[in-house]
Amino acid sequence: MIKNHFSGLGFIALVTNPSPSTESQATTGHAHAQGRRQAGRQASAGCWSCWPVFARQLERAMAEAVLEDGLCSFVRPLEKRDGTVLRLQQYGSGSVGCVVWDAAIVLAKYLETQHFSGGAAAGTQALRQRSVLELGAGTGAVGLMAATLGADVIVTDLEELQDLLKLNIKMNEHLITGSVQAKVLKWGEERKDYLPPPDYILMADCIYYEESLEPLLKTLKDFSGPKTCIICCYEQRTMGKNPEIEKKYFELLQLDFDLEKIPLEKHDEEYRSEDIHILYIRKKK
Ligand SMILES: C[S@@+](CC[C@H](N)C(=O)[O-])C[C@H]1O[C@@H](n2cnc3c(N)ncnc32)[C@H](O)[C@@H]1O
Repeated sequence: MIKNHFSGLGFIALVTNPSPSTESQATTGHAHAQGRRQAGRQASAGCWSCWPVFARQLERAMAEAVLEDGLCSFVRPLEKRDGTVLRLQQYGSGSVGCVVWDAAIVLAKYLETQHFSGGAAAGTQALRQRSVLELGAGTGAVGLMAATLGADVIVTDLEELQDLLKLNIKMNEHLITGSVQAKVLKWGEERKDYLPPPDYILMADCIYYEESLEPLLKTLKDFSGPKTCIICCYEQRTMGKNPEIEKKYFELLQLDFDLEKIPLEKHDEEYRSEDIHILYIRKKK
């Protein structure tokens, strides 16, 4: 369960910042709070009763990080099934995409499961030589995982995330068995340079502010083909406008796409959570 790895995170998250919920947060950021939330995850591979210890370790680590580079940067390790470790640079201040969100971890780890690889040995062939486009990639965690599983990946996000994406590609290039490149893609924009449609479009935690819903749907329509499988992982949030935003998103989505929910028991056995969902989305025929 996620809480075994991230225990303490719920506590911090509730106190500081439960979700990215507005466009301004997407571009200006309350990411210091998020950074604390994420760092809590790293510091917390233990039990609830150990939390005060982890909290102290976390405070110390954050203080050191601030002293070191002024950006309060910290690395989120993501262990793969083969024992290798993706290292994801995050920043404690900046835009909403500069930390790794839970949905990204859940989706990245799902790509390694036997269910995703269609019954073959977990994490092996399904992505080999497949084309993948990741939307709203943030740190690039999901796309990088796909690239280590043999996929040819384009990780996309706004201009302001490009340096972080490129840094994370560099930090993990020794693990990549397919290929990966970073590109700017703002949802809703007309683009001709990504054709033909990819085999997969991946998106983690991209449904969170109202103004983005229609542009995001336009991008999904423009970039997917009849055979593209869109895999959307999102955290179901109950606060503020989030339920309304999710409802609207799925209503609009279902005008053009069919949805299939992946049952929780098919997610990675450790990195799963009742409130984080994975959907396969395909263009209606
Ligand atoms: C909550 S973060 C999720 C980041 C990453 N997928 C993860 O789960 O760790 C949402 C991401 O969507 C990106 N985003 C928001 N609005 C966007 C837009 N209009 N066009 C492209 N990307 C956008 C943000 O920059 C951010 O990286």
